[in-house]
Amino acid sequence: MLNPTLALDTVVCGDCVEGMSLLPSESIDLVVTSPPYDGLRDYHGFEVDLHATGKEIYRLLKTGGVAVVDHEYMPIFLKGRKPQYFNKEPLNVPSKHAGKVMTGFANRRTNGKTGPSITKAINATKCRGTIWDYLMAGDKNPLKRQHPAPFPDQIPYDFIQCFCPPGGIVLDPFMGSGSTAAAAKLL
Ligand SMILES: C[S@@+](CC[C@H](N)C(=O)[O-])C[C@H]1O[C@@H](n2cnc3c(N)ncnc32)[C@H](O)[C@@H]1O
Repeated sequence: MLNPTLALDTVVCGDCVEGMSLLPSESIDLVVTSPPYDGLRDYHGFEVDLHATGKEIYRLLKTGGVAVVDHEYMPIFLKGRKPQYFNKEPLNVPSKHAGKVMTGFANRRTNGKTGPSITKAINATKCRGTIWDYLMAGDKNPLKRQHPAPFPDQIPYDFIQCFCPPGGIVLDPFMGSGSTAAAAKLL
């Protein structure tokens, strides 16, 4: 199995809890992963202990490290009180009204009153919000289609840019077709 030192750029084939138990604590900046769908897909006999998986992920993360766990909704768990790294700029999307100057109401204050209206130029891009759309259609590698439930390539790519400091270490305990590893390598 795995050498107990943190072997970077390595894909380990085996049970992830066993594999993670050999890695040093507080060594991982970001986990991007998608656990097996409970009973909905056949993963060639692998069984998953999600409780033990969560405990190992927690041990391996650096304080301030983040674990993004795909389940259609993607809950984002934080170890500690605030993220060690957060950069949402790469996730921005084009603004529909980019370049226009618009006037609108200011936000409502805590006393219930609204401030004077404000006029401002609309930026070229805006924050993406909390609903992110992905298409599998853009993923060109036909080998990927042999896996029953791969990530769209863009998912790990986006999360790594958002939550992993440059040069940081990313872990995917449920690697599947390797989308997270490929994105980490690309970045
Ligand atoms: C939902 S898929 C992940 C797909 C991956 N995100 C991708 O882009 O291809 C879950 C994967 O976990 C693997 N798996 C199941 N049980 C496991 C275990 N105990 N340890 C490690 N991997 C396991 C399955 O074989 C499957 O490839």
